Amino acid sequence: MLNSPMPKIILVQLKKVIEVNFYESFFQILRKNDIPIASSCQGRQICGRCSIEIIHGSEFLNSPDENEMQVSKKYGWQQQNCGHLRAACSTYFVKNGTVEVKTTYW
Ligand code: FES
Repeated sequence: MLNSPMPKIILVQLKKVIEVNFYESFFQILRKNDIPIASSCQGRQICGRCSIEIIHGSEFLNSPDENEMQVSKKYGWQQQNCGHLRAACSTYFVKNGTVEVKTTYW
C-alpha cells in the first residue's frame, strides 16, 4: 500500500478525514476546515482551551515546546488519565502519517 504524500487527521467522532500540510498547527487546520475548536487566546498558547486528545499517531507530531508544557502543567493535563492531551495551537506534523484525534465536544 502506498503512503499518501500528505499527513492526515482523522476526526474520529465526526468521521471526517482532513489532508494537511506539515508544520501547520492543528488549531489553524481545524479553523480553516470550519471545525470548532475552543480558544480564548486565539492560538497564542495561553488559555489551554484548545486541548485535543491524540488517540493514535503522536509519533508523527512535534514534541510539546516549553509554552505548551506550561499550559499542560497549569491545566493539569498530565495528571488527567485520558490519553495524550495536546494544545491544538502548538501541535503540528513533523512526519508523514495519520493521526486520530477527538475533543470532549466532537
Ligand atoms: S488556543 Fe489558547 S492555548 Fe491554544
